[in-house]
This record gives sequence, structure tokens and C-alpha cells, in this order.
Amino acid sequence: MGGLAGPGFVLLSWVLFSPCLFSVDGLSKVRAVNLGGWLVVEGWIKPSLFDGIPNGDMLDGTQVQLRSVVLNKYVSAANGGGSNVTVDRDVASTWETFRLWRVSENEFQLRSLGGEFLTSNSEDGLILATAREPLSTETFYIERNDESVHIKLLNGGYVQEHRTSFITASDFDFLSRHGINTVRIPVGWWITQDPFPPSPFVGGSLAALDLAFSWAQSYGLKCIIDLHAAPGSQNGMEHSASRDGSVDWPSPEYVSQTLEVIDFLATRYGGHPSLLGIELLNEPSAATVPLDVLVSYYTRGYQIVRNHSTTAYVILCQRIGNADPIELFQAGIGLSNVVVDLHYYNLFDPYFASMNSTQNIEFIYKNRAPQLQALRDTNGPLLFIGEWVNEWDVQNASQYEYQKFGRAQLDVYANATFGWSYWTLKNDRMHWDFEWNIRNKYLLFSASSLLKTPSFLLLLALGWGTCLTIMPR
Ligand SMILES: *[C@@H]1O[C@H](CO)[C@@H](O)[C@H](O)[C@H]1NC(C)=O
Ligand SMILES: *[C@@H]1O[C@H](CO)[C@@H](O)[C@H](O)[C@H]1NC(C)=O
Ligand SMILES: *[C@@H]1O[C@H](CO)[C@@H](O)[C@H](O)[C@H]1NC(C)=O
Ligand SMILES: *[C@@H]1O[C@H](CO)[C@@H](O)[C@H](O)[C@H]1NC(C)=O
Ligand SMILES: *[C@@H]1O[C@H](CO)[C@@H](O)[C@H](O)[C@H]1NC(C)=O
Repeated sequence: MGGLAGPGFVLLSWVLFSPCLFSVDGLSKVRAVNLGGWLVVEGWIKPSLFDGIPNGDMLDGTQVQLRSVVLNKYVSAANGGGSNVTVDRDVASTWETFRLWRVSENEFQLRSLGGEFLTSNSEDGLILATAREPLSTETFYIERNDESVHIKLLNGGYVQEHRTSFITASDFDFLSRHGINTVRIPVGWWITQDPFPPSPFVGGSLAALDLAFSWAQSYGLKCIIDLHAAPGSQNGMEHSASRDGSVDWPSPEYVSQTLEVIDFLATRYGGHPSLLGIELLNEPSAATVPLDVLVSYYTRGYQIVRNHSTTAYVILCQRIGNADPIELFQAGIGLSNVVVDLHYYNLFDPYFASMNSTQNIEFIYKNRAPQLQALRDTNGPLLFIGEWVNEWDVQNASQYEYQKFGRAQLDVYANATFGWSYWTLKNDRMHWDFEWNIRNKYLLFSASSLLKTPSFLLLLALGWGTCLTIMPR
């Protein structure tokens, strides 16, 4: 082998590697990056579709309290809703707090604590907090006089700008040149109704997904479509497109609507050479989505994908919150090419808040690695670390500390039988930004570093399906 190891061999091996990405022996792995904030917008990932829009501080879910300047009293929905609205409170608390559903820059619906919408649809002209569905009689025009800046309206042209500039073919080129072989693409349920999804969703995501597939084909990458936002919301968080924190997904209507979304995606992309897999639902909440409902949904979703592709991986995300991922390894959801997705962040939990860099790195080796090992030992589905990031709660860490943290994660997650996917491609919070990490050498990872790493042994397997695999020594 020594005689072959020159620059020419490295180039040849990379060319050979792609078509044999998923060899039957399972030695080759997914190394992916998530295209976060692109088709499913998350406010904290900048630049955003909503940057600079009028009343940008009045998006869905914003909590407002309203006080009459004449009466100097707060507007209140007594008992959290269910009867008339009064203007008689001296102090604002939960009954006086309303969540916004944005219709346009000036038009809003207001939801009470109990979930009812304020409505003008009453016989005696009262405003009531009794509507279950927000329609035109539940829509209010809110004018703000304290805005000194007015920016253009949100319109098709503006949207077009975000879709065509945030992620482009040159990003796929960058990824393919830096050791990445797959992208995981979050999509929202409304993609099925493109280009005219229902309000407040914005059209254009289906055309963008088509583009992603053609870029992937050009640059030799594979695509995982990830249903990130299901109708009704499966976890109440912004990235599931919950308008105000509600989790309504596990209702039979929404579940069957979601299966139709999977059917739509599998029909359209099931035969595409760049499709690697379909992830049926991102991060369902353990607190609100019962396991039996989820297992039934995953089982039916698996069958739908299999109807359109015998080989596409069907990816099942763990429940987030208080649930053990082993529950999905034991559920017997499908017969072939089933993957369970775990998300590993040393963040979002007070447990990590006071850890220093050494403790964070130790956690990767002492907690993540054994969990990975235990799940591998079940001989169940393949294992995917579908989200992780080179960021933590450590303040002012040095570049060297970040490099060590990134290296520890890459070391351990390399043992996930399916592979991993970094969250996220781009973000103005630089440590979350994959491209920034690579360019600034905070994450020491690339195709060439992988192939030159002494701990990797290159094997050229001959015979049917000749391919190069990379095997940990
Ligand atoms: C409005 O609601 C308050 C508090 O629930 C109640 O006391 C009052 O009678 C209601 N007024 C009308 C006109 O319905
Ligand atoms: C699979 O396809 C067959 C034939 O079109 C259809 O009858 C069946 O309902 C489909 N199954 C699922 C789970 O979609
Ligand atoms: C991290 O914390 C541990 C436990 O308090 C301590 O022993 C260690 O020296 C600390 N390491 C660094 C780099 O601060
Ligand atoms: C981090 O650095 C900033 C800016 O130099 C400083 O204000 C802050 O106190 C530092 N934080 C810690 C925890 O050292
Ligand atoms: C990866 O798995 C192998 C085989 O179980 C184990 O020996 C090794 O320690 C693991 N590596 C890491 C970094 O967890």
C-alpha cells in the first residue's frame, strides 16, 4: 500500500469512495452538514428570511400586554379566556398576556392564556376570548406610532433574495471539497403546497429543494430530507413552526396529514439518485407525543417510503426530553435500512452550564461514547448523530480548546454506525457555522486530513462492487 500513497492515490481514492458510500459492510459513514435556517426559518439563525421586515419584533408567539391610555387599565381575558374581554386590570399577569399570530405587518390575531382567540364576532359588539379558529373576525389591525424606520413589505422578491443567496451551489462545492458527503435538509409540511402554501408560510421551498438535489448530484453529495416541522407542531419549538408554543401534532388528523407529506416527498424524490434517506419527523417531544402514537406513525411512514424506494434510509428521530433512545431500537419499525437519529448538544441543559472545557470533553468520552456503544450492541437500526455542534457553555474558550472539543466529538461520533451531521451550515453565531469552523480551523476536519490521519488504514477491496472503504485501525 505504501507505494500507492501519493497525491494521485488520494485523488483516486476520493473518486472511488463516493459511489460506494454505503457499502454493505457498513464501514463507510455519513459525514453531513445540516442546512438549517434555509427552508425552515429559525429566527436565531442569521441572516434570516425575516431580517429587516416591518414590526420584526411582532412575530408569531410574541407575548403582548395591552393597556388603555384613557382608562390606564390592562386588557384582560378573565380565567384565561372563555368569556368577554374587559379593560379593568391595574396589574398585568397571565390573563392579561396575549400571544400574537401574525397575519401581516399590521394585522394580528391574539390568543389568550387558555388558547382562545380574541374575536369581534359577537352580537352585542363586545370583544370576546372565545374563538377556537382565527379567521377575519379574529384579525386585528395594530398600528405602531413609535416606529421610526419603515422597510419594504415582505413580498415574493424579498423571499427570492433569501432563497437564492443564503445557500448556493458554491456551498455544496465547499462541502464536497472539505470531506462532507451528505446534506441533511430540514423542510416544513407546507412544502407540499408550494408555491402557494397557506398563510403565514412562504412559498419557494420546493423549488429550492429541487435545486439542492441537482447541486448534490453535481458535487457528488447525498441528501437526507428531514421533516422538521409537522402540521400542528411536534415539539412546540420555533423550528417546528409552532406559532406560539402549542404542540398539537399527536392528533389523528395531523398524523395522517403528516403521512401525506411523507408520501409527497417519497413520490417526488424516491427515485432520485442523490436521495440517501427521509427522516420522518424531527425531535418529537417526549412530554407531549406518546411513544405508541409515534411508533405507529413511524411504522406507517416506513411503509410509505418503502413503497417508493427499496433502498432509501428511513430515519427515525429520538424523542427529545425525558425519553431513552433505546425505545426506538426495540420498536421493530421496519425491516431494512432503518436509522435512529440522536441529537447531541452539550447545551440547553443546566447540567452543562458550569462545566469547563476539560469536563465537556470528558463528557463526550465518558457519557456519549458508552451510550453509542450500548445502542450499537442492540444490533437494531443504524445509529446517526444527526445534529451536533462545536459549541458549548464555556466562556472565552481558546481556539485550541475548541479544536480539542471538536476532535473529541468527531472521534466518538465516528462510531455511530450510520454517521453524523453537523448543525448547521451557516449562522452569524460563528461557532455554530460549519464553514466558519473549517475556514478558521476551529474544527479540524477535511477529506485530506481524514485520508492522511495515521490512525486510518486505507483498504482497496476488489471484486463485485469494488470500492474503497475507510476502516478505523
Ligand atoms: C364580562 O365578563 C365579566 C367577567 O367574566 C362578567 O362579570 C360580565 O358580566 C361580563 N359582561 C358581559 C356584558 O357579558
Ligand atoms: C403502497 O402502494 C400500494 C400500491 O400502490 C398501495 O395499495 C398501498 O396502500 C401503499 N402502502 C402505503 C403504506 O402507502
Ligand atoms: C475543570 O474543572 C475541574 C474540576 O473542578 C478541575 O479539576 C480542572 O482543573 C478544570 N480544568 C480547567 C481547564 O479549568
Ligand atoms: C470573556 O471575555 C469578555 C471580553 O474580554 C469579558 O468581558 C468576560 O468577563 C469574559 N468572561 C469570562 C467568563 O471570562
Ligand atoms: C469505537 O468503537 C470501538 C469498538 O467498540 C471502541 O473500541 C472504541 O473505543 C470506540 N471509540 C471511541 C472514540 O469511542
